[in-house]
Amino acid sequence: MAAKPEVCKELNPTQVRKDFPIFERTIHGKPLIYLDNAATTQRPRQVIDCLKNFYEHMNANVHRAVHTLSYEASCAYEEAHKKVAKFIGAKSWREVVFTRNATESMNVVAYAWGLQHLQPDDEIVVTIMEHHSDIVPWFMLRKMKNISVKFIDVDDQGHLRLDQLKTLITLKTKLVGITHASNVLGTINPVEEIIAQAKKVGAVTLIDAAQSAPHIPIDVQKLGCDFLAVSGHKMLAPTGIGFLYGRKEMLEAMNPFLHGGDMINTVTTESATFNELPWKFEAGTPSIADGIALGVAIDYLTNLGLENIYQHEQKLLEYALDKFEELDGVQLYGPHSAVNRLAVLSFNLEGVHPHDVASHLDSEGIAVRSGHHCAQPLMHRLGMDNTARASCYIYNTEDEIDALVEALKRAQKLFRR
Ligand SMILES: Cc1ncc(COP(=O)(O)O)c(C=O)c1O
Repeated sequence: MAAKPEVCKELNPTQVRKDFPIFERTIHGKPLIYLDNAATTQRPRQVIDCLKNFYEHMNANVHRAVHTLSYEASCAYEEAHKKVAKFIGAKSWREVVFTRNATESMNVVAYAWGLQHLQPDDEIVVTIMEHHSDIVPWFMLRKMKNISVKFIDVDDQGHLRLDQLKTLITLKTKLVGITHASNVLGTINPVEEIIAQAKKVGAVTLIDAAQSAPHIPIDVQKLGCDFLAVSGHKMLAPTGIGFLYGRKEMLEAMNPFLHGGDMINTVTTESATFNELPWKFEAGTPSIADGIALGVAIDYLTNLGLENIYQHEQKLLEYALDKFEELDGVQLYGPHSAVNRLAVLSFNLEGVHPHDVASHLDSEGIAVRSGHHCAQPLMHRLGMDNTARASCYIYNTEDEIDALVEALKRAQKLFRR
């Protein structure tokens, strides 16, 4: 039996940073302070080495040949699916479909489930805090299938209006799509409660876990969702790899999204039969090295312990919320306390455009995002177009939060002259 990986007792960001070669570089002569983790995280040496090792020692296509390299690549690629399945508590690794990212995962649901199952006048319910990738695919279906898309609102602090669940989720609702955590506000949504309400009316549930899976433990069986979408690059893995969890019964009942090689069983001049799960949904040559490296990223996170990661980020968030109090003329969005909230801080400095804020921070070596964060309905609901956003991860420290706050004070002086 393989030895159980050791989980560390407490996360030590200073130790963790040593695994990330990017922190050896400087930006404009200053040490890099990377606070754009909600957009994409950095990669540890273990993930980078995995890619190098694959191309140097194992490179071959999967599921196509009997030679040693192909066999090894196929086994490693399959093994990565198993690691993902364990990471999210799936019943079987066959419920894990590798995609390019969370966006593609949600599009698989829209095309493969939605096109087949939706009828005119059906309704889809999402929240106003969704990323565009959990809104625009449903607009595509609205046009094609004559369905409606309804939005659960938020209150002014960015909590979902749960009082609307019963009026919005009705027998007409065929799918409820909810982000587990907001990429703008950090709000962690009570997805269990919403899934329970959706189940009462027989609606299918899709959880967008792009922001939650890297930061909090997830168990799809406990959640009871039908689908869950994740991007690898927000959790230390390479870009171009993500996954869709789908309950086996759902995936089995669905038609494939893309058609071609590897997703078939047999093809004649008349017809085709489809491969077993998950390959039925992985048409063509997949991102093999990236998929295997996703498995390594999951090993890395598992070794740190998701609970430790969450605790570390909670401490950072509480620290940052206190530190932001020192700043006058700053509007911070999202829940006022650290409870049920990720360490994502969207803010605006009075009278300063967020792009100017981000440019100034960059001149001090601090990377934050500015813009609408692909969540324009939420931005408009909260009365803004753009914000700056600082988002933390396993390698961030309180010293970096101090540096951010001091840099913001300098930005205020600079732009208010
Ligand atoms: C909540 C949420 N969902 C979905 C996505 C889409 O992720 P990707 O661009 O990797 O597909 C993002 C990306 O920022 C996100 O924050």
